[in-house]
This record gives sequence, structure tokens and C-alpha cells, in this order.
Amino acid sequence: MSEELHDVSVVVNGLPRTARVPARRLLSDFLRHDVGLTGTHVGCEHGVCGACTVLVDSRPVRSCLLFAVGVDGAAITTIEGCTLPDGELGAVQQAFMECHGLQCGFCTPGFVTTITAFLDEQPDPSAEEAREAIAGNLCRCTGYQNIVAAVLRAAQIQREITGQAVAER
Ligand code: FES
Ligand code: FES
Repeated sequence: MSEELHDVSVVVNGLPRTARVPARRLLSDFLRHDVGLTGTHVGCEHGVCGACTVLVDSRPVRSCLLFAVGVDGAAITTIEGCTLPDGELGAVQQAFMECHGLQCGFCTPGFVTTITAFLDEQPDPSAEEAREAIAGNLCRCTGYQNIVAAVLRAAQIQREITGQAVAER
């Protein structure tokens, strides 16, 4: 007997996306295989490493722990959507590059989405707050120092971008 399929319609990085999927299709698999956005990485597949973090209605979630049908109607942001409107690197991506916040890069999409949501709430964090914000994401390469530096640099870039936008109004 073939498996029953369900329509899932979401907005991913500003674009409407619809697919018919089994009830147990994970959001991570939906994004990677049905939507074709492979920037979301899957590491542990049980909610521990944070590599699969995406934003659902602006909140960070572990996409390996959610079913796609459960987020029907939501707005999702993946690493591919963390850019500036013109497609250039977003503040967090740019900061990771400048501060050498990545090595193999496997964990990076989860860090970037997590930090993007964090800076929306706390645009001027201390180093301690930055450390706490990334405490749920695992990185096997960097030793975290450069990632903390990237959080602080991203906050600075973000403030510069916001200041520029205000000045241009
Ligand atoms: S793959 Fe989802 S938390 Fe590790
Ligand atoms: S850069 Fe390799 S796991 Fe983080």
C-alpha cells in the first residue's frame, strides 16, 4: 500500500514552496530534498548538534526534530536566506568569513541561523551573551573562540547596516 501524502505549503526565504510529502517527512529532509536547499546540514539527526537549525517564523528550531506537515503555512529562513537583499553575504556570514569562524563549515549553517535570530533579539551582546547564544551548537573544528568573535563582529556589521539604512532615508 502506498503511503498517504500531504500538501505542505510554506514560504522559504521569501518564496512560496509547496510539496506533497509523507506525514513523517522531517523538515530537514523537506528543505534539502523537496525544496532543494541543501545548505541546511544534518549531523546528529536527534536534536543535539544544532547543524540543522533553521528559523521558523523567525525562531530557531532544529529541523531534524520537526515534521514538515507541522510547519505548514510558516515562513522559514534557511542559511540560503541569511544574505542581504541584493544577494551579498549577510552580516553573520560576512563576520564568519572575517573572523575565521569556520573550518570544515559543516556546522556553520546552524550557527549562522542561530546567531541571526539571537542578534534580532540582542543587537549589542557581550562576549558572555554571545557564548551563551551558541551553547546549543556543536563545532568539532574551531574551538569556538573565533565563532564568539564572529557573533560580536556580526552585531557590529548589523548596526552599521542599520545605521546606513536610517541615514539613507
Ligand atoms: S542534525 Fe538536527 S540537531 Fe543535529
Ligand atoms: S567548522 Fe567544522 S564542525 Fe564546525
